[in-house]
Amino acid sequence: MTVQTVIVLAAGEGTRMKSATPKVLHSVAGRSLLGHVLHAVNHLNPTELRIVVGSGREAVEAHIAQIAPQATTVFQEHRGGTGHAAQLALAGTAPKGTVLVLAGDTPLLSGDSLAQFIAAHAAGKFAASVLTAEHPEPTGYGRIIRDDSDELLRIVEEKDATDDEKFIYEINSGVYAFDGEKLVASIGNLTNANAQGELYLTDVIEILKSAGESIAAIMIDDFTETLGVNDRVQLAESAAMLRDRINDQWMHAGVTIIDPTTTWIDSTVELSNDVTLHPGTALLGSTKVATGAVIGPRTTLTDCLVKEGAQVLESIATQTVIGEGATVGPFTYLRAGTQLGDATKAGAFVEMKNAVVGTGSKIPHLSYVGDATIGEGSNIGAATIFVNYDGVEKHHTTVGDQVRIGSDTMLVAPVTIGDGAYTAAGSVITEDVPAGAIGVGRAKQRNVLDWVLRKRPGSKSAQAAEASTKKG
Ligand code: UD1
Ligand code: CA
Repeated sequence: MTVQTVIVLAAGEGTRMKSATPKVLHSVAGRSLLGHVLHAVNHLNPTELRIVVGSGREAVEAHIAQIAPQATTVFQEHRGGTGHAAQLALAGTAPKGTVLVLAGDTPLLSGDSLAQFIAAHAAGKFAASVLTAEHPEPTGYGRIIRDDSDELLRIVEEKDATDDEKFIYEINSGVYAFDGEKLVASIGNLTNANAQGELYLTDVIEILKSAGESIAAIMIDDFTETLGVNDRVQLAESAAMLRDRINDQWMHAGVTIIDPTTTWIDSTVELSNDVTLHPGTALLGSTKVATGAVIGPRTTLTDCLVKEGAQVLESIATQTVIGEGATVGPFTYLRAGTQLGDATKAGAFVEMKNAVVGTGSKIPHLSYVGDATIGEGSNIGAATIFVNYDGVEKHHTTVGDQVRIGSDTMLVAPVTIGDGAYTAAGSVITEDVPAGAIGVGRAKQRNVLDWVLRKRPGSKSAQAAEASTKKG
């Protein structure tokens, strides 16, 4: 059951997307539409992968170079139909084995279903097989025409169908398996005598049938796998279906998902069992979450690593490592390069970027920590700012082990706070503080007595002050 060549048709304009981005580059569940198709195709280990590109060629080719560098791209300059696209893909090739042809806009198609389809095609020794589905709303799809003994005769496009044919619910998924030699021998015979004036790949079926070849319509169990994306409504529908599929898979693998309808997990994410996901959580990109971690509600993690037993509440993090047993949130914003060690804390209204935090250190409230290294067991007092930007360049701050940064300290980088040192609350620290010292960088307080009585006589404050003096 091997596939020699896979041809992906991805040259269409995707007009109905009304987008500057080529249709196949729109993404759902963390992969482009084309990426999903290529991921499924990968399952078959084809010897050769050919992708027909046209509209938005440069962007599509650049994307292919990233996700499938082994693929050959074929340029279709003008839309001549699916048959024309396949002709271009086959030009100059002489495939001997099975050729699989499919579209680049069906993100729900699974590798397993493709493998089953190819196996059925091979077992029947058919010249051509079409993957079909019973679709509750077949409008727009090509319909499968069978004869009295239920054998596949031909495929008729919506625009060419008679009223009777439009009542057929079995649709062409746009996935085909061909005997390579027979496909090459017949595809030149396509004509554009149809409603759209295009060369239809679907007509190869009828051509082979009339030549006495055996052809088959193989029905898939789950019609949703064949759904194509042509507009943003279908984009959202397929995203929701993928979300449900991915969530089901993780729940079966031992992940608790409190509200699967508001939990979005990219297909590229990895979770361990006994992870708990609260409502409104999105786990994106290459995010990995270890066992016992609790994420959400309303949390978005992109390309993050969350270690065992960590908790992330109401927060947004990107390219961040969250250590074992660490707690994050609520309302914490962790940007690229944040590395929270084990048993650390990044609390409410804390923003961090490019900051490494040692075991057990805490930034509990209202702070900005940018471009910093913090040692172990240190505490960063509320409302501390790591002043990393002088208006031109970014500078680094180093905080040692067991340091106590007083509340509302400005650490003006570059600056180093030694092990075990303190800073006084409200200090602006512009010079290094040696180990064990306290850095005090604030004006000495002076009180101007009776200022309120003199400057704000009769005010509520003055009255309160007078009453207080009388009480003694
Ligand atoms: C096609 C099928 C239809 C099937 C449906 C399944 C034909 C004639 N019709 O219709 O029977 O039910 O898919 O979704 O094949 N493409 C090119 N070059 C072209 C034209 C199309 O590369 O000149 C690509 C498109 O980018 C797309 C795929 O081929 O990925 C299918 O084209 P599309 O226009 O979406 O065909 P449908 O009308 O959906
Ligand atoms: Ca389509």
